[in-house]
Amino acid sequence: MLDKMQIAIDGPAGAGKSTVAKAVAELLGLFYLDTGAMYRAVAHKALMNKVDIHSAEEVSRLAAQTRISFDHAQGDRVWCDGEDVTGAIRTPEVTRAVSVIAAYPEVRERLLAWQRLEAERGGVVMDGRDIGTQVLPRAELKIFLTASPDARAKRRWLEVQATGKEIALAEIAAEMERRDRQDREREFSPLKPAADAVVLDTTELTVEQVISEIVTMAQEGTK
Ligand code: CDP
Repeated sequence: MLDKMQIAIDGPAGAGKSTVAKAVAELLGLFYLDTGAMYRAVAHKALMNKVDIHSAEEVSRLAAQTRISFDHAQGDRVWCDGEDVTGAIRTPEVTRAVSVIAAYPEVRERLLAWQRLEAERGGVVMDGRDIGTQVLPRAELKIFLTASPDARAKRRWLEVQATGKEIALAEIAAEMERRDRQDREREFSPLKPAADAVVLDTTELTVEQVISEIVTMAQEGTK
C-alpha cells in the first residue's frame, strides 16, 4: 500500500521541508508536490502585473486566471501560464510578498482545489503549511518539521550563499521570523501542526537522518 500512501509535511520556513519531502517521495516512489511554489507563483505573477498585493480582491481575481504546473521530468521546473518561473519565484521580492497573498481565503481555496485534485493521482508527498490540517486531512502520515530559529536561518543563509548572493544572516533571520509570524497568525489555514502530526525537531539532525526517520515511519505505518 506504500504506493498509495499520502504523506503531509508541514512546518516553518527553513525547516528543510522541500529537500526532505522530495527525497522521501523519490525513495518511496511517490509523487511530490511543492505547494509553497504555487503560492510563490501567484505572488510572482501579481508583482509582474503590478497588481496591488494588499488587495485581496485583485489578487484573488488574478489567482483565478493563473495556471500552474510542474515538470518533474525536467528537474522540478515550475511553470506559470506557460512560462518557466522556477528561478523567478525564489527571489527576495517574491519571498516578501508571498505570505501576504497566502492569507487571502479566495487564493487559498483556488489552490486547495487544485492540490486536492493532484492528490487524487494516488500516492503523494506534499509539503507546505496546511497540508496535514486542510489539504490532506486523512493523510496516513503527517510530519511537522521544526528546528530552532537560529538553525533555520543558518540553513537558508547557506542556501543563498551557494547561489553566489551576499546577504547578512541577521537579515534572513528577521525576514523569516516576520513571515513565520504572518503564517502562524493568519485567520485561514494558519501554520500549525495537525492534531495527529508527528513533530520532528531537526535542529540536531542531518538531512539524511530526517529522511531516514520519515521513510521508516512510512514503512512501519504500512506493515
Ligand atoms: O521554502 P519556504 O519554507 O521558505 O516557503 P514555501 O514552502 O515556498 O512557502 C512560501 C509561503 O507560501 C509560506 O511562507 C506561506 O505563506 C505560503 N504557503 C501557504 O500558505 N500554504 C502552503 N501550503 C504552502 C505555502
